[in-house]
Amino acid sequence: MIPVTKPFLPPREDYNRFLDGIWDRNWLTNNGPLVNELELQLKEHLGVNHLLFVSSGTIALQLAIKALALQGEIITTPFSYVATTTSILWEGCKPVFVDILPDKLTINPDLIEAAITEHSTAILATHVYGIPCEVEKIQKIADKHGLKVIYDAAHAFGVKVNGKSIFEFGDISTCSFHATKIFHTIEGGAVFTKDPELLKRMAYLRNFGHDGYEKFNGIGINAKNSEFHAAMGLSVLPYIEDIQKKKNSQADYYKDYLQGLHIEYPSTDHIENYNQAYFPIIFSSEENLLKSMSYLEDQAIACRRYFYPGLNQLEYTTGNCPLSDQLAKRVLCLPLYHTLTKEEQSMIARFLLRVQNN
Ligand SMILES: Cc1ncc(COP(=O)(O)O)c(C=O)c1O
Repeated sequence: MIPVTKPFLPPREDYNRFLDGIWDRNWLTNNGPLVNELELQLKEHLGVNHLLFVSSGTIALQLAIKALALQGEIITTPFSYVATTTSILWEGCKPVFVDILPDKLTINPDLIEAAITEHSTAILATHVYGIPCEVEKIQKIADKHGLKVIYDAAHAFGVKVNGKSIFEFGDISTCSFHATKIFHTIEGGAVFTKDPELLKRMAYLRNFGHDGYEKFNGIGINAKNSEFHAAMGLSVLPYIEDIQKKKNSQADYYKDYLQGLHIEYPSTDHIENYNQAYFPIIFSSEENLLKSMSYLEDQAIACRRYFYPGLNQLEYTTGNCPLSDQLAKRVLCLPLYHTLTKEEQSMIARFLLRVQNN
């Protein structure tokens, strides 16, 4: 069986190294030293000033919405994972969907203004597959209309825009450190902001609102993460450059092999330090996608329709996004993980070509 992804596990001794300390200190969670160390190392690695390690990418989005006290309508993308939309709804706001760009699959900034109403309070856009949104255009629109900006950067670890970490854009950016992500802590995530006041607010929110033992600052939640999760992050981080390099070279290898296939790729050439977290291909029709996917499944090769259905098409959402609807039907992610071999990749490519030519 070839899965669509496999979590990276560091050498076991790298992780074990942290366990003695955890046992010696008997400090398992609640802002422990390994959580602090991971936050420090991530700041250094990414070149950002502020971040908080939290328990998932989903709770990171919810903290962001709560910290900005958003209400009413949030303009968002239909082409993302379901957590982008459910976080908005979970926080009692309404997602208003704006269609995507055909080449980048990120929200189309030229369509945002038409979706703004007197109830709009923010834009929540996803750097889908690590492809940066058009951040400058989005910020201009947000500034003009007094909207906050949150970026769901769940897929974008390490990516840069104009030499800066992608996490530096918007009022708050969030990331997922789930086991399937390029950098992971088994379960986990982070919030990033340049604003120290917002960071402080999110630090209270992360820990039930505790301001000392007996005083509370706002309605918080439990978004903390543990020493064991931090230890995994500290063990994975030294390998991140190698993982990223490997995935980029695997993507090049796929592209070479898939040259005769009638597919397109999202546009990624312009991206600084692209992480190649996924390998999405765009078929010419849903029919071709389904034929290929079913053939690969018969050969015990798993692909995933990230992201189908479009988030405007859920039973609890509405929105008119024809381009996203169309692309969601035609995009398939092929297997991509650090131990995927060239032989496996060329086999997958051969199968895809065989389906097309039959
Ligand atoms: C775009 C996007 N946002 C948010 C999330 C949620 O992250 P987590 O699984 O860490 O809660 C994911 C997870 O896959 C995602 O792909």
